[in-house]
Amino acid sequence: MIKKLFLCALACITFATAAADEGMWLPNSIKGRIKAMRKMGFKLKADDIYSDDKASLKDAVVQFGGGCTGEFISPEGLLLTNHHCGYSSIQKLSSVEHDYLTDGFWAMSRAEELPVPGLTVTLLVKMEDVTSRIAAGESEAEIIKEAKKKHNADKANIEPIYYGNQKVLYVYRTFRDVRLVGAPPSSIGKFGGDTDNWVWPRHTGDFSIFRVYANADNEPAEYSEENMPYRPARHFKVSVKGVEEGDFTMIYGFPGNTQEYVTADAVEYVAEVSNPMKIALRTIRLDIISEAQSKDVATRIAYAAKHANIANAWKKWQGESLGLGKLGTIEKKKEYEKAFAAWAADKPQYANLLDSMHAAYDEVIPHYFARELFNETILGMEFFNYAYWFHTYDANGHKLTADKQAEARRTYLNDYRKEIDHAISRRMLSEYIARMPKENVPAPLATAIEKHGTPEAFVDHLFADTRLLEEYPLTREKYLADPMVQFAGWFADALAQNRKYAYRNLSNVPAIEKWYRTYMQALREWDEERAFYPDANFTLRVAYGTVTGYENADGEYHTHLTTLDGIIAKDNPEIYDYDIPQALRDIYKNKDYGRWAIELNGKTSVPVCFLASNHTTGGNSGSPVLNGKGELIGINFDRTWRSTMSDIEFDPAICRNISVDIRYVLFVMDRVGGAGYLLKEMGVE
Ligand code: ARG
Ligand code: GLU
Repeated sequence: MIKKLFLCALACITFATAAADEGMWLPNSIKGRIKAMRKMGFKLKADDIYSDDKASLKDAVVQFGGGCTGEFISPEGLLLTNHHCGYSSIQKLSSVEHDYLTDGFWAMSRAEELPVPGLTVTLLVKMEDVTSRIAAGESEAEIIKEAKKKHNADKANIEPIYYGNQKVLYVYRTFRDVRLVGAPPSSIGKFGGDTDNWVWPRHTGDFSIFRVYANADNEPAEYSEENMPYRPARHFKVSVKGVEEGDFTMIYGFPGNTQEYVTADAVEYVAEVSNPMKIALRTIRLDIISEAQSKDVATRIAYAAKHANIANAWKKWQGESLGLGKLGTIEKKKEYEKAFAAWAADKPQYANLLDSMHAAYDEVIPHYFARELFNETILGMEFFNYAYWFHTYDANGHKLTADKQAEARRTYLNDYRKEIDHAISRRMLSEYIARMPKENVPAPLATAIEKHGTPEAFVDHLFADTRLLEEYPLTREKYLADPMVQFAGWFADALAQNRKYAYRNLSNVPAIEKWYRTYMQALREWDEERAFYPDANFTLRVAYGTVTGYENADGEYHTHLTTLDGIIAKDNPEIYDYDIPQALRDIYKNKDYGRWAIELNGKTSVPVCFLASNHTTGGNSGSPVLNGKGELIGINFDRTWRSTMSDIEFDPAICRNISVDIRYVLFVMDRVGGAGYLLKEMGVE
C-alpha cells in the first residue's frame, strides 16, 4: 500500500490535475468547468456557451471547409477565418489578370462578393450524450435518422469519445453558398511564410472574410443569385479594447486530433520512430524543392503550396519530438503505468490490460510503420498517383478516354516539374529500399532494381522511358506498357495492406484501440484526481486560458504581444516571406495609425499578434478567441514550435497558442483594404 501511494505520488502529480489551461472541453457539459473559468475572469454562464433552448455562442461558430474553424461577426452572415484556411478558395478564384493571392481582394458591395464553388460551412445544431440511449437498446442509425428529421438537418453522426466509453450525437447543417468578401495580400496574410511558421515572435495577418448565404427562409441552400445573407442566431461582438497579460481567453472551435491518454509505447513510437523517419525523408524532399525554387521564379511559385504543405508537418514533428524529450513524457508514462499496474494487480478485469496493450503494439507497429514509410517515400513521388490512376482505372475495367486522362493530369500533375520529381524519386526509392524490411518490397521491384544495379539507376530508367509525363492521351496499349504504370501496379498489394492500417494514429488501429476502452475506464476509476477531457476529434470544443508570454529559454522571456514595428524590422523586399506591401510601409512612415494606435513600451504602434495559454491543435485554425464577456479579441492560427507536444502532453509553462489580434485585422481592413464599410456592418463604430 505504501509503495502504491509512493509510486502514485511520483507519477500521479504529473498527470493528476489538468492545470487550469489544459483541456478541450465538450460545450454541452461546460458547466463542470464554469467555476474555474469564472475564477480566471469569465463573466458569462454555461448556457451562454451552449444551449439547446436559446441562442448561444455555439451558433456563431462553424467548421470552415474540411478542417478549419470560422465565426460569424455580423447579423448578416459575415464570417471570419484564417488566410491559410481560405487560401485554396482564394487561389481557385484567382487568375493571371486577377491575382487575389498576391494583391488581396475586397468586395466593395454584396454584388462583388465571389461565390466559391465547393466550399462549405457547417453549423452545429445540437449535441447530446446518447450513451445511455444506446445502452438501452436504441440503434445508432435510428437515433441519427430521427435527429436529422427533427432538426431539419442534412448531417448527423455519433462520435465515440474516451475510446467509445461515451457516445455523443452531433447534428449539423451544411451551408453551400459561401462567398469571398475580403482577403489581404499574401504579403500580409502569409507574412513570414514558412520561415515564421510555428514561431514566436509572429507578425502574420492570418485572416480572410467570407459571407454565408441562405434561401429566403434562412435555410441552407445551393448557390443561387436569389439567396440572401444568412442571419445567424448569434454572432460575435468585436472588442477593440485590446488584450493585457493575464486576461482571460477562450477558444471555441473544432480541434482535430490529440492523444493525451496513450501509453509509453505509443509515445515512443511517435517520438523515436515515426517522427524521425518522416522528418528525415521530408528534409530530403524540401531540400530538393528549395534548391530548384531558388534558381527559378516560376518554379518557386509552382511549388510554393506543395513546399508549404510538406514543411508544415515537418516542422511541427521536430518541435513535438523535442518537446516530448524535454518533458520526459515516455519516462513519466512508464512510471504512471507502473503505478497503474500495481493498483490493477488484484483486479481481474484490469490486471493483464497493460500486457495485452503492449503485445498489440508489438504486433501492429511494423505494419503501421510500413504504411507511414510508404506514404513518405513512394507517395512522395509525384508521378506515382498519376501512374497508379492508369493502373487501377484500367484494372477496374474503366475506359480511359482523352477527357478522363486530361482530368487526371490536372489533378496529379498540377504545377509539375519533371526534373524535381525525378531528383526526389531517386532519393525516395533509395530510402524506401534502405528502410523497408525486404519482405514488404514487391518482388518485381526487387528484380528490376537488381537488373538496373541501384534504385537510382532504376528511377533514371523510369524517367527516361516513360511516355506518361509528356504525351497524352495515351492509347491503352501504350499506357499498359509504360514503365511508370507498371511500377505503380507492383504496389497494389502493398496499398491494400496499408489500407488496413489507415487510422489517424497508431493507437487508433482497431487491434490496439479495442484495449483503450477498458484502459480509459480503469484510469478514471484509479486516477480520481485527474481532470479528464476527451481527445480532440474535429468536434466543437471549448479551451480556456489567459493571455500570457512564456520563458522560451533561460533568461529569455517572450512577451505576449507583437506590433507593426516588428513587421517593419523584418521587412525586406529581397526576401519573399518578408516583402510587405508598400501601403504598409507608407502607413508606418507617416504613423498614420488613426484609431488603431497603441502605446507600448513608450512607442506608438499597432498591435499584430498575441500569445495565450489555450490548449489548441490543428483544426483550431480560424477559431474565435474570446474575452471574459464572450467578445471577439482575435483569431487563432498557430502554436509555438515548442508547444506542439501538447497533442500528447500539455505543459502549461510552455504551451502557447498564437492569435492575430482583432485590432490588426480591423486595421488592415480599414487602412490597407479600404473596406471600412465592413467595420460598420460588424458594429465597430
Ligand atoms: N502552422 C499552422 C497550421 O498548422 C499554419 C500553417 C499554414 N502556414 C504556413 N506558413 N504553412 O496550420
Ligand atoms: N495552423 C493550425 C491549423 O490549421 C493550428 C495550429 C495548431 O496545430 O495548433 O489548424
